[in-house]
Amino acid sequence: MFSRSARLYDAIYSFKDYAAEAAAIHELVQRRNAGASTLLDVACGTGAHLAELRRWYRSVGLDADPELLAVARERLGDVELVEGDMRDFDLGRRFDAVTCMFSSIGYVGGVEELDRAVATMAGHLEPGGVLVVEPWLSPDRIDVPHVGAVFVDEPELKIARMDTVEVSGNRSIMELHYLVGRPDDIEHFTERHELTLFEDEEMLAAFRAAGLAVEHDREGGPMGRGLYVGVAPAA
Ligand SMILES: C[S@@+](CC[C@H](N)C(=O)[O-])C[C@H]1O[C@@H](n2cnc3c(N)ncnc32)[C@H](O)[C@@H]1O
Repeated sequence: MFSRSARLYDAIYSFKDYAAEAAAIHELVQRRNAGASTLLDVACGTGAHLAELRRWYRSVGLDADPELLAVARERLGDVELVEGDMRDFDLGRRFDAVTCMFSSIGYVGGVEELDRAVATMAGHLEPGGVLVVEPWLSPDRIDVPHVGAVFVDEPELKIARMDTVEVSGNRSIMELHYLVGRPDDIEHFTERHELTLFEDEEMLAAFRAAGLAVEHDREGGPMGRGLYVGVAPAA
């Protein structure tokens, strides 16, 4: 998925304020589960949220992409990181909070996989634990045709990444073109990412089926794409 761009990920997303995002996550977790002290970040990517969250939580990260995990390992040192699939993993322990940020949930292939992923994450919550999921776009919020671009201009790294998006059924298909310049070379490569456009009701149903009381802030979340917060029943 990110195999060729993993080493560029942090530069491309340097416009995101991960410290502020982590502080907001911490605040909303503590508001619902005061004293929460353990956290699992599912689809942790390069570990930018965990770099902040580790200050408040004994943290674990899980991701399906070994290249992104390698970057996270360099960043996080002794934080436990696990290669795994959000649709089906079992860490054999539970957490006070589980997070799945920056639209990672969109990478699952459809409603059945969504239900499985949310149930799997919910199954890792302690009683009263909090699940925070930042969704991808819902079908009514995607605007196609679309072209997007991100530019990086560091002294020894220049990146122009452009993407187009098309929609087929409930899938959004992104074609990403990277032009990457370093002092010794300029390379071009492409990546294709497919994310499912879930209806709000499908997201809410997945949380409820997993036994969680769920709140949905449609305009909230770090990217304005919304935020789902589920709470597991108390013991
Ligand atoms: C847009 S990145 C977000 C990464 C990180 N949460 C952040 O905020 O920067 C999407 C992440 O989802 C991960 N991912 C996609 N499908 C996955 C799956 N089935 N299980 C676990 N991780 C997955 C990717 O490897 C990638 O790290």
